[in-house]
Amino acid sequence: MNVTASGPLDTESGEALAVPVFQDRTWGPGADWAAGRLGGWLDTYLDEQDFVGKLGEVLAVPTGGRLPFTTLFLVGLGDDVDTESLRQAAGWLGRKAAKTTDVATTLHQVDLDGAAQAVAEGFLLGQYRFDTYKSEKKPAVTETLRFVGDDADEAASAGGTAAAVADAVALARDLINEPANAKAPAVLAERAGRIGADVGVAVRVLGPDEIESERLGGLLGVSQGAHNPPRLVEFRYEPADATAFLALVGKGIVFDSGGLSLKPPAGMETMKTDMSGAAAVFGAVQAIAALGLPIKVLGITPLTENMPGGGAMRPGDVIKPRNGKTVEVLNTDAEGRLVLADGLSLASEAEPDLIVDLATLTGACKVALGEKIGGLWANDDDAAAKVLAAAARAGERFWQMPLPEDYRKNIDSDVADMKNTGPRWGGAINAALFLKEFVAEGQAWVHLDIAGPARWPEDEHYQSKGGSGYAVRTLVALAEDMAG
Ligand code: BES
Ligand code: MN
Ligand code: ZN
Repeated sequence: MNVTASGPLDTESGEALAVPVFQDRTWGPGADWAAGRLGGWLDTYLDEQDFVGKLGEVLAVPTGGRLPFTTLFLVGLGDDVDTESLRQAAGWLGRKAAKTTDVATTLHQVDLDGAAQAVAEGFLLGQYRFDTYKSEKKPAVTETLRFVGDDADEAASAGGTAAAVADAVALARDLINEPANAKAPAVLAERAGRIGADVGVAVRVLGPDEIESERLGGLLGVSQGAHNPPRLVEFRYEPADATAFLALVGKGIVFDSGGLSLKPPAGMETMKTDMSGAAAVFGAVQAIAALGLPIKVLGITPLTENMPGGGAMRPGDVIKPRNGKTVEVLNTDAEGRLVLADGLSLASEAEPDLIVDLATLTGACKVALGEKIGGLWANDDDAAAKVLAAAARAGERFWQMPLPEDYRKNIDSDVADMKNTGPRWGGAINAALFLKEFVAEGQAWVHLDIAGPARWPEDEHYQSKGGSGYAVRTLVALAEDMAG
């Protein structure tokens, strides 16, 4: 799909025009023009259809030749409009307009920072479907989203940025939605190589031998019980004009059975999602490079299954991740922190300005914040503020949680430097405290637990049920901010 520009409203024509309407049918830009031409019956019709202009409402009005567009989409924005509600409204429009080839719109004329980008992002993401395995596919047929008006050229250029971001989110969603039998670590690593080749990012892939020789004891331990061998993917995007250096570490458990600490069946149903952190890194690296942002990015994704095969780690085993600290593995289902330990050590060695890790790490975080908000931990207040600001701009919600030093004893081990579990209470905090042990002293670090929002529970606005690609947009916004 393309995002394009065309001239002022009264010179345009086409299949459909989409215009914003605020609460209580307060006409937004372009809606007054359209309503005036449709005439008095419109109000009666809107009464009949119960259309008031709430966020989430999109009404297709047949224009009967009174407008040079066959259909008029009235897009509800509610009151108290911000960039995120505009993005969501555009998502609802994208769903409703899935059978329309050409959609002209004035939605970008709503007076907000980043309006055009939000509209294009919402619209494109709202049309996302995962239908790889459906015999009968019903793809969206929209070919162009066309910004109309004097400012259309500028809007279309913001639309280009939005398209790169939406492509990256769709990539992450596709990877997450793919079943585990189609995304073995080697398959994902090969995919990473193709992404790198497409956008000009160097990709290094470590197989089992190198994982061992590089002393990645966390990844090695988790992978022992799996038939499919592990990989570690490193993306290096190093533009000549880079002004900052960001490292990203994403949890890539392509399937989490729990290992010998086996999950009950219901708990496994969605565990193909457990590589959402890695998927977010794949997507973010692709978008940052495609946009040519002047920032150096190192992306690290340990990829493995967590399975209970004959070679599997046993509860009580002691392993040694890359930085040499020893870990007593009391619960093999707390595997994410083990592979991240190696990822964080590798990232620390590169001495970036900031490390951000992303992981579907704990059920406890999902209990605390629900399915639509991620948890954020940081060892540095400036870094936390930066990531929270980027997330707010991107329209993704994160809530900062504490890293209390006196809780560190929760993960004291009788035999090793630490254990990989703690008490049930504060489970997401205990996990974050564990990760902190693998971040070098003085290294700024932010941890994002996306166990909840990595999988969206329902179809709504620009989200679709299933893999959400959460954090891709935050990471791109963060890279933009850091690049200055
Ligand atoms: N991948 C899970 C966390 C998870 C659970 C993500 C539900 C999304 C939805 C993680 O590997 C895990 O199993 N964590 C355990 C940790 C516990 C054993 C300390 C958990 O949260 O129960
Ligand atoms: Mn687990
Ligand atoms: Zn897991």
